[in-house]
Amino acid sequence: MKKTNRKYIYILSILLIILTSGIIWQLSVSAFDVARAENLYVNQCANCHRKDGTGVKRVYPPLKNADYIRNGNTVELLRGMLFGRSGRIVVNGYTYNGVMTTEIDNNLSDNDIALILNYVYVKLNDITDRPVTEKDVKEARKLGKLPPHK
Ligand code: HEC
Repeated sequence: MKKTNRKYIYILSILLIILTSGIIWQLSVSAFDVARAENLYVNQCANCHRKDGTGVKRVYPPLKNADYIRNGNTVELLRGMLFGRSGRIVVNGYTYNGVMTTEIDNNLSDNDIALILNYVYVKLNDITDRPVTEKDVKEARKLGKLPPHK
């Protein structure tokens, strides 16, 4: 085989590997266990944020199509979920000044907690480019409770 040909094949295979790993990554995001995630979400969060994630205006902020979720930071959102959050936040133009205590069942596994935020991201906000991992949950547990919003 000519040297240039070999180089060509080499470059082509690298491109193919990049392409397939991208596709596999996308699949793993969209193929998380949606039924389990939805079940967890409904049990843990829907009392306040509602089953469809729209919340209750001025009382419980929406988790669906919410600017603070879209602009949020995964580990910080997890810290709020794990340890509670209070203070004044403006969500989609409405002010909320409530207290979310530690509402989540802290006996849930890190994987299940990641699954809940994945559900909020993918199903309620169409955010598919930042999958939540167990590592994020471990990090959030380590960093602990956030101070109230000012
Ligand atoms: C008992 C009611 C209640 C339950 C149950 C509840 N929340 Fe909340 N949540 C609130 C309130 C109230 C706030 C607003 C707190 C504030 O004003 O700062 C809030 C705020 C939040 C925030 C924003 C926190 C921040 O960083 O500002 C997120 C994210 C959130 N909730 C997600 C969840 C998820 C996910 C669940 C389920 C695991 C859940 N909540 C369960 C009442 C609840």
